[in-house]
Amino acid sequence: MSELLLSARDVSKIYRRKSEPPISVLKRVNLEIGVNDRIAILGKSGAGKSTLLHVLGTLETPSHGTVLFRGKNIFELSENNLAHFRNHQIGFVFQFHYLMLEFTALENVMMPALLAGESKAKAKVAAEHLLFRVGLKDRLTHKPSQLSGGEQQRVAIARALMMKPKLLLTDEITGNLDSSTGQQIFDVIRSLQEEHGIAWVCVTHDESLARSFPRVLRLDQGELFALSHLNRDALN
Ligand SMILES: Nc1ncnc2c1ncn2[C@@H]1O[C@H](COP(=O)(O)OP(=O)(O)O)[C@@H](O)[C@H]1O
Ligand SMILES: [Mg+2]
Repeated sequence: MSELLLSARDVSKIYRRKSEPPISVLKRVNLEIGVNDRIAILGKSGAGKSTLLHVLGTLETPSHGTVLFRGKNIFELSENNLAHFRNHQIGFVFQFHYLMLEFTALENVMMPALLAGESKAKAKVAAEHLLFRVGLKDRLTHKPSQLSGGEQQRVAIARALMMKPKLLLTDEITGNLDSSTGQQIFDVIRSLQEEHGIAWVCVTHDESLARSFPRVLRLDQGELFALSHLNRDALN
């Protein structure tokens, strides 16, 4: 594996709700992610895939265990430092793009940089470049409602990469797309990943897309398993 970027050690997540039995969603998960890794995570609905991504991306804290980023325990950071860390190191793309509907594609992509205090001129240049790279140079002034599902996800990808994160986490981003559009989206991310030197952890239910990843993991009832090449060939 390339140089270690993130390491999750013995991570468990238990949801406790009043007057209901606790739900154990992640069970002692261990995962090491290298700086240029490309990892697909498969698993049934409810297996804990989104929960795992949220913990890796610091949106949720683990009940037990640690997450180290370049050897540093990120959950020991203060709330402000954690938010800063998340904004600068982690890019998230969700199944539902969560674009701001009243803003154009360009404005949506510029937003993280503007919120971080970047000048408008600089943010615009960077956002335009990313939108060109995801194939949307003719859609800069379109609003989300004027874009197809695949185009909306491309905008969300460009936005996630705006702050030059080291780790990109994508959660079922092709769930609502046909398979050839899904493949195009994956190809775009892959070329950007190589260009920018980003690790990519990709949750998908699409086993044929997952097969193209060098590492494929399966989450089953909160436990993470590596799929060997043998098992992967049997995917269908
Ligand atoms: N905030 C929460 N409170 C209680 N239970 C939750 C919460 N989030 C997720 N769960 C439960 O955890 C399990 C795993 O959810 P999730 O990580 O979303 O699975 P997946 O993404 O694999 O479909 C589900 O049974 C879900 O109901
Ligand atoms: Mg999910």
